[in-house]
Amino acid sequence: MNRLDGRVAIITGAGQGIGKAIALGMAREGAAVVIAEINGGNAQEVQSELQESGQRALAVPTDVSREESVLAMVERCLKEFGRIDILVNNAGIYPVSPVEEMAEEEWNRVIGTNLIGTFLCSKAVVPRLLEQRWGRIINMTSGRAFQGAKDGAHYAASKAGIIGFTKALALELALCGVTVNAICPGVTDTAQPRGHRTEEELYGMAARIPLGRIGQVDDLVGPAIFLASDAAGFVTGQTVLVNGGAIMW
Ligand SMILES: NC(=O)c1ccc[n+]([C@@H]2O[C@H](COP(=O)([O-])OP(=O)(O)OC[C@H]3O[C@@H](n4cnc5c(N)ncnc54)[C@H](O)[C@@H]3O)[C@@H](O)[C@H]2O)c1
Repeated sequence: MNRLDGRVAIITGAGQGIGKAIALGMAREGAAVVIAEINGGNAQEVQSELQESGQRALAVPTDVSREESVLAMVERCLKEFGRIDILVNNAGIYPVSPVEEMAEEEWNRVIGTNLIGTFLCSKAVVPRLLEQRWGRIINMTSGRAFQGAKDGAHYAASKAGIIGFTKALALELALCGVTVNAICPGVTDTAQPRGHRTEEELYGMAARIPLGRIGQVDDLVGPAIFLASDAAGFVTGQTVLVNGGAIMW
């Protein structure tokens, strides 16, 4: 018996990085997975990889910041798999510029993808989760929500917003069998930190992490599967820090 047998999971931004690792991990635990990803080519590759190993997967090119795209993705999921049990709001972007040089368009793009995308995807699946009185929503935040992000004010604001949103939605759905939690990765070895750090800086960050290394994508998989499983039924509104001990509050 796998921990997610019979479940259907939508993972946004699952074409690469942490989202892909979570999609592969949830599929190994028995879930059918929807790869809701703006990069259609990457989404297709993840779908093929999963299907070749006998797992149920569907790539749906999706822009989480656009409601019509999100609604179409949810429709495709329901047509293909007939239900939705788990949503992982993982898609995120992190461009850098100091506030005084930041174009309003860039601010809106980051908030639109990271925070509004989380809202739109959640809103689109909540009616289904309420109908079946079982559901799991997992939102990807960041240590930047607590520590701030130099030249990433939009990113830090979006990730702090996700924590507030997680708690509010957890309260709304608390008596309906639906839990809502956040995962807060520490610096993790993906494309994202490479957008604003050199390799030396990235690996140099290990010196400030009690467990002595930066994160790898598979470090996030176990916590995500736990929060998505029946075992986490009494956990809601929480932010789980998966960061090698880098922040301990
Ligand atoms: N890597 C880290 O150090 C780190 C640390 C803390 C939090 N996070 C968060 O974890 C999540 C995953 O990050 P990652 O490191 O795997 O990043 P990544 O850049 O490797 O992957 C992000 C994915 O999201 C997709 N995406 C971007 N905009 C989208 C949109 N509008 N609609 C749908 N998909 C979209 C991208 O195409 C990409 O596949 C993000 O929310 C990120 O902010 C990452």
